Amino acid sequence: TSGGTLEFAVTRNLAAKSTAEREKILANPGFGKYFTDHMVDICWSATGGWHRPRVQPYGPIPLDPSAAVLHYAQEIFEGLKAYRHADGSIWSFRPDANGRRMQRSARRLALPELPVEYFVESLRQIIAVDGSWVPSLPDTSLYLRPFMFAKEAFLGVRPAEKIAYYVIASPAGPYFPGGVNPVSIWLSTDYARAGKGGTGAAKTGGNYASSLLPQAEAAEHGCAQVLFLDSSEGTYLEELGGMNIVLVYKNGTIVTPESDSILEGITLDSVLQLARDRGLTVEQRRVTIDEWRDGVASGEVTEVFACGTAAVITPIAQLKSDGFTVGSADAPAGELTLSLRQELTDIQYGRLPDRHGWLTRL
Ligand code: PLP
Ligand code: COI
Repeated sequence: TSGGTLEFAVTRNLAAKSTAEREKILANPGFGKYFTDHMVDICWSATGGWHRPRVQPYGPIPLDPSAAVLHYAQEIFEGLKAYRHADGSIWSFRPDANGRRMQRSARRLALPELPVEYFVESLRQIIAVDGSWVPSLPDTSLYLRPFMFAKEAFLGVRPAEKIAYYVIASPAGPYFPGGVNPVSIWLSTDYARAGKGGTGAAKTGGNYASSLLPQAEAAEHGCAQVLFLDSSEGTYLEELGGMNIVLVYKNGTIVTPESDSILEGITLDSVLQLARDRGLTVEQRRVTIDEWRDGVASGEVTEVFACGTAAVITPIAQLKSDGFTVGSADAPAGELTLSLRQELTDIQYGRLPDRHGWLTRL
């Protein structure tokens, strides 16, 4: 299942949106609401490996009611963006890292590993047909969503022998309605996202399913995201429902939780590199919730931010929970937070040199 090239059969969407319809969507895309005209898919079977790569019109996927994914959630996904540079060219950010992470997720979910070259090629294929969907307004992009699931019709509990891999694409503006305005975060004390030995480090739907109820609780308390602590002691920071978390200390030190039950964010890894490049100290270690709470109170912790593909870098103004509040909802965005966000997006949009070789032309 590695090496070789894939020949994609292309079926054009005859009902593709008109230029006017597309332009209207691209002027105000929101997040995850609209989809491009095509999708990419590749099949896998235990006997035939990866086969039948296709580009076809975006639309419903035929699925047997007994398809394993509908019962046992054997599913993984990825998320990355395509950025339009000033000269019109289209680039993605570290797609090989997403491809490798998808392989790690696949291993955990007993799914086949898509070769990284196929992963990157599948992104090129969707851009080849739907490149006009990559918006060009500031801070917009085309969000790419590769995903893989068990489609075998069979109710026994074992790894499925028929798997589908797809890529869909959705024009994106800011994930949070307020854009880069600081958000409030809700600390969930009743629920955990993932446990030791579980699937927390994999990008699999079940982790997000289990975050929905606590996320709804966060929304009820006026918070944009839920923060999870480790499941065994309820003491150490893990991550948000869909983002990693970073604390900035008064002396410029950057601290982010170390845990084997959180997603290894590619945005986080990149931000830590940019911080190291600036000569800042970066610590990846266990961080208690008290370290955050007391640190903000004493002025030791000066900024907190969330990071991820969808969120980019979003300042966190306030942490709320039953019985305590840290920070204030109208606290301004931190200086380092904003400057790291600026540097990261300048690289992604081609406004600064790509000194780490992070960009891949699609
Ligand atoms: N943590 C979770 C749970 C996520 O869903 C995401 C988003 O993909 C991240 C972290 C950040 O990962 P990345 O920066 O690779 O998008
Ligand atoms: C991403 O950032 O790509 C995610 O998958 C997270 C989700 C909040 C959309």
